[in-house]
Amino acid sequence: MTNPYHYGTPVSGDQFAGREVELKALEQRMRDGINVVVTAPRRYGKTSLLTRAIAGVVADGGAVVSVNVLACRDISSLASRMATAAYAAKGGRWHRVRQAAAEFVTRLRVSPTVTFDGDAPRFAFAASLAAEDADTVIEDVYALFDELAARGPAVIVLDEFQSITDIGQHLPGLFKALADAYPPVSLVLAGSRQHLMEQLVADRGAPLYGLAERLALDVLPVDVMADFLRRRAAAGGKSMALPAATRVIELAGPVPNDIQHLAYEAWGMAGRAVTVADVEGGLALTVEHEASSYADRFGSLAAGQRRVLVALTASPTHEPYGSSFVRGTGLANASSVARALEALQGAELVVRRGTTYVVADPFFAAWLTRIV
Ligand SMILES: Nc1ncnc2c1ncn2[C@@H]1O[C@H](COP(=O)(O)OP(=O)(O)OP(=O)(O)O)[C@@H](O)[C@H]1O
Ligand SMILES: [Mg+2]
Repeated sequence: MTNPYHYGTPVSGDQFAGREVELKALEQRMRDGINVVVTAPRRYGKTSLLTRAIAGVVADGGAVVSVNVLACRDISSLASRMATAAYAAKGGRWHRVRQAAAEFVTRLRVSPTVTFDGDAPRFAFAASLAAEDADTVIEDVYALFDELAARGPAVIVLDEFQSITDIGQHLPGLFKALADAYPPVSLVLAGSRQHLMEQLVADRGAPLYGLAERLALDVLPVDVMADFLRRRAAAGGKSMALPAATRVIELAGPVPNDIQHLAYEAWGMAGRAVTVADVEGGLALTVEHEASSYADRFGSLAAGQRRVLVALTASPTHEPYGSSFVRGTGLANASSVARALEALQGAELVVRRGTTYVVADPFFAAWLTRIV
């Protein structure tokens, strides 16, 4: 029997739950040429949502370029990927015609090298490509999509946009200028690391300030997730009563990735019915498997960070600088706690949910509970 849950990479089809409202909003904006910024912490389901919205737009004949910024080594690689994706876009007019690659190249003011993977061309620029030339290619792709927008939706999606300045400090400004110059093209930017995304798009004076509508993804509601877990268990040939589904969410939630991870383990351990005991066993097993990597991760932290992490495991707080929490950490004062907390948040080991600071990964938190 195949385990019906999936975690770690984007999900689609039956493995995708809920998000009807967000999906509709995103797809509609893509169709209408409106720019959108999708933000959420890691593993909330940004890429899954994007992929689904893209599939909807493409099914109706829209043209979409989608690039993962983290996969781009440098600006030349971003330009190469954008050009290759523009050529391959279903709603575009190139990929369907043999020999179209030569015509496509004439539309770029900087010539790429072209290699073929079967019938599909790949356009590549040398790593030594000057930044201005890469900008020209990106602009050319934008201009091509502006033309396509006359016939249907034309969308440029950049996932993991929080990393864009790693490959070019000027790129946020470039995309702002291009989005302004080509209004019919919908630019969709998605990213995690809230503070980085805010520096890029939300703060006053940010390079992309006022460019796009914000779509901040929250976690999925508990009832939607519980129904989903039960449905998937059944699809895999086992039953899961509501208390077991609820226990999965209590122990691993609220992040959908972690919920699916624990459900995966529990389903794997269970007989014909997934029980609360299986869920608890699944958590214990995962923590056991990961124990050595958790120990390494914990050991590599500065002493102050370890103390704050341990204190947060015992008592998540909305007042980390209050005297009782500071005393609990054993650190000298609130500014030492602030420094440690900032580092922990930067490493995404601690997140703020609502107003409360918590250990981000529930499995790591369970391991911490065991060692303190
Ligand atoms: N709509 C959903 N329904 C069910 N599970 C989901 C959903 N969205 C995300 N998940 C769970 O979260 C995992 C990660 O999803 P995804 O890669 O889309 O998130 P992400 O926010 O893009 O993550 P990252 O920040 O790492 O890029 C999936 O493998 C799945 O377990
Ligand atoms: Mg993603």
